[in-house]
Amino acid sequence: MRILGIESSCDETAAAVVVDGQHIASNVIASQIHIHAEHGGVFPELASRAHVEAIDHVVQEALRQAQVEVEALDAIAVTRGPGLIGSLMVGLNYAKGLALMTGKPLIGVNHLEGHVYSLWLVQPFRPVTFPIVVLIVSGGHTELLLMREHGQYERLGGTLDDAAGEAFDKVGRLLELPFPGGPHIEQAAQLGNPRAFAFPRAKRDDGFDFSFSGIKTAVMRQVSVSPSAAARLARDNQQPAKLRSDVSVRDVAASFQAAVVDTLVEKTVRAAKQFQATEIAVVGGVSANQLLRQRLRAESELPVRYPPLNLCTDNAAMIAAAAYQRFRAGQRDSLALEALAQWPLA
Ligand code: KG4
Ligand code: ZN
Repeated sequence: MRILGIESSCDETAAAVVVDGQHIASNVIASQIHIHAEHGGVFPELASRAHVEAIDHVVQEALRQAQVEVEALDAIAVTRGPGLIGSLMVGLNYAKGLALMTGKPLIGVNHLEGHVYSLWLVQPFRPVTFPIVVLIVSGGHTELLLMREHGQYERLGGTLDDAAGEAFDKVGRLLELPFPGGPHIEQAAQLGNPRAFAFPRAKRDDGFDFSFSGIKTAVMRQVSVSPSAAARLARDNQQPAKLRSDVSVRDVAASFQAAVVDTLVEKTVRAAKQFQATEIAVVGGVSANQLLRQRLRAESELPVRYPPLNLCTDNAAMIAAAAYQRFRAGQRDSLALEALAQWPLA
């Protein structure tokens, strides 16, 4: 079964063809990072315009690379939400057009479920025995879930303020690193001392919710020029603070990364034990982080699964993979399907 996936929820325009929910026939991504880099974050109006400009070419390229005609597809899958509404609508409208033109079934996919199904694209694939604990860590979301079956999620916790990737991006801005901050912080941290600063960790009795704004504020106090500069930054965190000249960016990056990773690892490992999961899975942009992967492996007796690096961040192959399971479960959406800016998985 061949499914075309389309993704446009944030700053990547992507299309992919996936066979039987597991085999990538093509996976095309047009990134807008260069457009948003100068703003230090994703700028919604620019994002939708760039999606409009890119989508037709990206989809046609995905079909061409997979050597498949639209008529030969079994279904057309598209991210329905959550995400930037204007951006989502570009992908959704394009998918509806294709579905209308070809009469193929339309399947609206939850972007977060897409991240979960990036795990099914790992080759060779080891079958999953449910339940598993899934940590979704991306630029917009931090969710700890118990996945009991295909498509069945129980929410154990999530962030109360910033998403983990968002914290990386904000601290990246504070440290005057390029956008997005995550990979650049990871790189700077490799040469830094993770014990240089004791940034706050979550306490065990915090349950399974996360909070990253305290760590971000502690970093801000450490690196900014003066309290008034920090206050200005707190009001409008678009503006990078002027870095204190005696601050070691590497040490701050390493200490910040260690604090975030400690918190993610402690809660995920404890949840897996408490809910008797057979495995831990970590997905989303931040799952590319090597320290997070190493620490999860070291701290848990359970196997840890994560996607290959190129499927951690947003892509359309994961949307087609998620749609495969939904299709098998009978999902067929109407051409009146609406985009959802908010759409919790559980
Ligand atoms: O999943 P994703 O591509 O987009 C969303 O759905 O949000 O995640 C992007 C996020 C960004 O915040 C980026 O800084 C973060 O993932 N990220 C990383 C790394 N690579 C990407 N964070 C930490 N370490 C990394 N190596
Ligand atoms: Zn994502």
